[in-house]
Amino acid sequence: MKKEMIVASSLCVCFDQQTVLDGVDFKVRQGEVFALLGGNGAGKSTALKTFLGTVSPSSGSANVLGISVDKEIDHIRSKVAYLPESVMLYGHLTGVENIAYFLSLADITRSEHEIEQALLRVALQKNSWHRAMSNYSKGMRQKTAIALALLRDAPVLFLDEPTSGLDPNAIDEFNQLITTLALDGSTVFMVTHDVYGACQIAHRIGLLNKGKIVGMFERGDNSHIDTEEVHAAFSARNKR
Ligand SMILES: Nc1ncnc2c1ncn2[C@@H]1O[C@H](COP(=O)(O)OP(=O)(O)O)[C@@H](O)[C@H]1O
Ligand SMILES: [Mg+2]
Repeated sequence: MKKEMIVASSLCVCFDQQTVLDGVDFKVRQGEVFALLGGNGAGKSTALKTFLGTVSPSSGSANVLGISVDKEIDHIRSKVAYLPESVMLYGHLTGVENIAYFLSLADITRSEHEIEQALLRVALQKNSWHRAMSNYSKGMRQKTAIALALLRDAPVLFLDEPTSGLDPNAIDEFNQLITTLALDGSTVFMVTHDVYGACQIAHRIGLLNKGKIVGMFERGDNSHIDTEEVHAAFSARNKR
């Protein structure tokens, strides 16, 4: 059995009087891509933030790498990479310079060659490596951030709505990259409202509605999760 990398147990989060997560349970094992799927306001980003320690559980627990977020959050943060909806890097620095800068903040030294190897791995087009990032598209910024995660040896990736605002080609490239990283042993937790995208890459999908997991879908050995089945469950819960 593969190692459990991310675990939520009876996880509840309340803000003021509002229950945003209500007894959420799931496990993500090493090398898995897990998608938490739900409509706007379902509590997806809140769930993600509990694993980063920026939101505290009201009850229940959230663990990363077997460590509770209440305990050693600094250690957890050193082992995970977080890509927010819009990746923030310095526009006036090049891709390579941004990576070198953020590595230096984490006290990690990598040669320019190693940085270029990582950019090659995420398939960032070569002619942009040494260009200012202000000209990068969202997809290019994401690739740069993932290259940074690889250079930090972060075994766990947290992604918030990674495909929103990407064009179809960039989505295909993103899906391919995430699938390859998971095959190479990375663990990926993404939150999304995109049914199709989740079905394309996730090993498991947890359907979140008003803070509760209302469905869990798992892919077979050689088949993707069925988009129509998930879509039907999603839209039944999100009728206007
Ligand atoms: N820091 C906060 N303080 C108070 N309410 C919040 C906070 N963050 C999120 N919420 C509320 O929690 C609910 C879920 O938000 P969120 O997790 O961002 O949803 P999602 O990412 O699924 O769209 C929303 O009703 C939102 O207004
Ligand atoms: Mg969100």
